[in-house]
Amino acid sequence: MSLKDAALSVRENAYAPYSNFKVGAAIRSLSGQIYSGCNVENVAYPEGTCAEAGAIAAMVAAGEQELTEVYVVASSPQPVPPCGGCRQKLAEFGKRDVKVVLASLDGAELKTTIGDLLPGAFDASHMEDV
Ligand code: THU
Repeated sequence: MSLKDAALSVRENAYAPYSNFKVGAAIRSLSGQIYSGCNVENVAYPEGTCAEAGAIAAMVAAGEQELTEVYVVASSPQPVPPCGGCRQKLAEFGKRDVKVVLASLDGAELKTTIGDLLPGAFDASHMEDV
């Protein structure tokens, strides 16, 4: 299954009764395995957990800690930009040159990278003097 198909498929499972905005994300790990996640909202924190965070959590739970490719799809008129928190999470587990495809349901795709999504990212190198 392609990353795109995995993201489209998991998006169907999104739990988004507050925003009605379903998002699906699929990531490929260093081993080549695909992990997917959808957004899961709740009444106390209606923004809930983002699809990207769900996919990353699945990868880490399976024992992997590096992602090499990302695909995110939502029912937006234009490819949906990941939120700030998700950009930081992607940067935690993927190198700057990792390809990220943002897509909308009508097939529009915006190709970018983790580095372009979060320029000047804070990372472990900034704590080297500690
Ligand atoms: N959302 C994601 O899952 N990923 C994104 O990249 C943007 C936003 C979700 C969070 C929330 O459930 C809904 O979209 C509206 O913000």
